[in-house]
Amino acid sequence: MDEFSEDVWRGLNSEPKYLQSKYFYDTKGDAIFREIMDCPEYYLTRCELEIFQTQSEDIANTILSRLTEFDLVELGPGDATKSVYLLEAISKQKVSFTYFPIDISENVIDQLKINLPKRIPGITVHGLNGDYLQMLGELKQTSARGKVVLFLGSNIGNIPLKETTDFLKALKACLSPGDLLLMGFDLKKDPEIILAAYNDNAGITRRFNLNLLQRINVTLGADFNLAEFAHQPQYNNETGACESYLVSLKDQRVRIGNLGTVKFRKGEQIFMEVSQKYSAEQMDTFAVEAGFTIVSHFCDSKRWFIDGLWSC
Ligand code: AVI
Repeated sequence: MDEFSEDVWRGLNSEPKYLQSKYFYDTKGDAIFREIMDCPEYYLTRCELEIFQTQSEDIANTILSRLTEFDLVELGPGDATKSVYLLEAISKQKVSFTYFPIDISENVIDQLKINLPKRIPGITVHGLNGDYLQMLGELKQTSARGKVVLFLGSNIGNIPLKETTDFLKALKACLSPGDLLLMGFDLKKDPEIILAAYNDNAGITRRFNLNLLQRINVTLGADFNLAEFAHQPQYNNETGACESYLVSLKDQRVRIGNLGTVKFRKGEQIFMEVSQKYSAEQMDTFAVEAGFTIVSHFCDSKRWFIDGLWSC
């Protein structure tokens, strides 16, 4: 059985049922996620873009006061809409750096290799196709230069809270003393604003979640009827966890190709994703627990989103 089949089968046979959100991102899922980032309710991208549009010079100067020759590594860069402002600010300072975008999508890397040099003439782009930590570990072996790692978009929020410190420690283990990490965190705020970001009026996030059932239909020959599942996000202001579920609208059986059949009770949920929200203090605690030193914070004007700069 391949990894996707195994993960899907295990998740749907667990109690409670779950699917892994990393599987949202097939070609169609990538396109729907771009629609989410443009939708009025999804404030995260706009807040972080504001930080990069208005503070990239500050961020660049802080980095350059510590490192003058480095590899700038971005985990999950998308089309680098935000980081391009930082790349421009660093390029203006005439320091020696290479940009290493790491992504599981080859298409993302190919597009960056074509598009970035048009915007920043002379930039060196070395795409790495694969798992973030594995690629980062390999880069540590092949390049002795200091590293500046960007992990933006509050992607960290898709990691369950209790696994966050271990993930950060694993990330740190792929780096060396003096290396820098710039991490985006979505902050706790009015619960209605947060919930709306995951329950947009146009139903884009609903389509994003249902697309994973469709992917299972197409890839594994399953027979999910998407109309029989409802999108149900919920936000817990105490814990900061915004969780997305798909809920079965009736008692039903779904055949997962030749793997077998899964039973759903009416009202039974499939846990799809957590998008964790943080307090600024909590974010600092993570840095310290994972062994980083806090260098600086860069916040948007509404104080809804923070990029933290940490040193190893
Ligand atoms: C990629 N990640 C940070 C997004 C988030 O906000 O958790 C994924 C997403 N899921 C639904 N909308 C956006």
